[in-house]
Amino acid sequence: MPFSLEKVIRPNILALTPYRCARDDYDAGILLDANENAYGPSLANNVEGDLNRYPDPYHVRVKEQIVKLRQLQSVQQLFLGVGSDEVIDLLIRICCVPGKDKILITPPTYGMYSVCAQINDVEVVKSNLNVENGAFQLRTDDIAACVKANPEIKLIFLCSPGNPTGSCLNHDSIRQVLESDYEGVVVVDEAYVDFVVGDNGSVANWIDKYPNLVVMQTLSKSFGLAGIRLGIAMANPDLIQILNNTKAPYNIGTPSAQIAYDALSADGLAKMEEYKTRLLAQRDILLKTLENFPVPGVGKIIGTNDANFLMVQIVNDQGEPCNVRADKVYKLLAETRDVVVRFRGKEYGCTGCLRITVGTEQENQTLINKLQEVLKETA
Ligand SMILES: Cc1ncc(COP(=O)(O)O)c(C=O)c1O
Repeated sequence: MPFSLEKVIRPNILALTPYRCARDDYDAGILLDANENAYGPSLANNVEGDLNRYPDPYHVRVKEQIVKLRQLQSVQQLFLGVGSDEVIDLLIRICCVPGKDKILITPPTYGMYSVCAQINDVEVVKSNLNVENGAFQLRTDDIAACVKANPEIKLIFLCSPGNPTGSCLNHDSIRQVLESDYEGVVVVDEAYVDFVVGDNGSVANWIDKYPNLVVMQTLSKSFGLAGIRLGIAMANPDLIQILNNTKAPYNIGTPSAQIAYDALSADGLAKMEEYKTRLLAQRDILLKTLENFPVPGVGKIIGTNDANFLMVQIVNDQGEPCNVRADKVYKLLAETRDVVVRFRGKEYGCTGCLRITVGTEQENQTLINKLQEVLKETA
């Protein structure tokens, strides 16, 4: 059955008359339309740009850079959000009728899908990943069964590379979900995609083929710009239009857009590549060190390590993954060694795991030293 937006989008959203401002039509000249302060911002130091003016509602210049970078067709395939987190929330709000519709997630996965669903009074259906031996892959038959049993599922959130799994999903399995008879929207969250080495990377160019595919990316990770809050949704123009109709009129601030533009310029991209190369080298070193750790207590490094973090099992004397010890190690590192990692042992298939973000060479060395000390203390 062909994908139909009318079946997925909430009726009140389809009927929405979007907020319009004069800037949608005119953005140059003497601007006396938006009750801004004509004298300028009250800042002690100069910041580039007219900060007394509301920002461009759509940031086409930034989008043009993303179109080039991700080899898309047009800016109409792009939506910019206040981080991917805003995109997640908006997708749930435009698709799911509170108290009625549902989303599907594939644990272990990023926590915000459930949090946003809960905030919007939307039920979460879980189809766990196959976690055997740290595979962290979709069970497409189970997803199909869940969708069949819950026709209210309007959104499926897939994460590749996954958080906290650090593992890319097999592209054939994503394609299988897209080509099933599921009639809702499939979201592929690619927050960490730039760290993928090899050919299991982005599915962004699939949006031309699948009208129900949304690919999310962000400048928070590979671009190192978590502070500006810029998330990206790529999808077919009809769906993007609905996101634009629904967002707050000026969601992305001028300084964020300027910094994004700079980061996406040729020089910015060269810098991103340079940092990424350094980070990937550090990832390899950290991985090898942890795999042959000089002090007992480190088990397997699970998953395929495709993102900028590693999932490290902490094991007990018997060599079994151990949440009690992992939690102790986590707390001791933070409270007595000033090294903060993330305890993920309670996530499905992640018993005993610490999620360790790859830092600079010096940060990683400190982590390695302090982890040895703490493992000795918890032996
Ligand atoms: C998988 C995944 N998606 C989305 C996000 C949120 O990204 P943003 O900073 O763009 O809101 C994160 C942040 O950690 C993440 O891990």
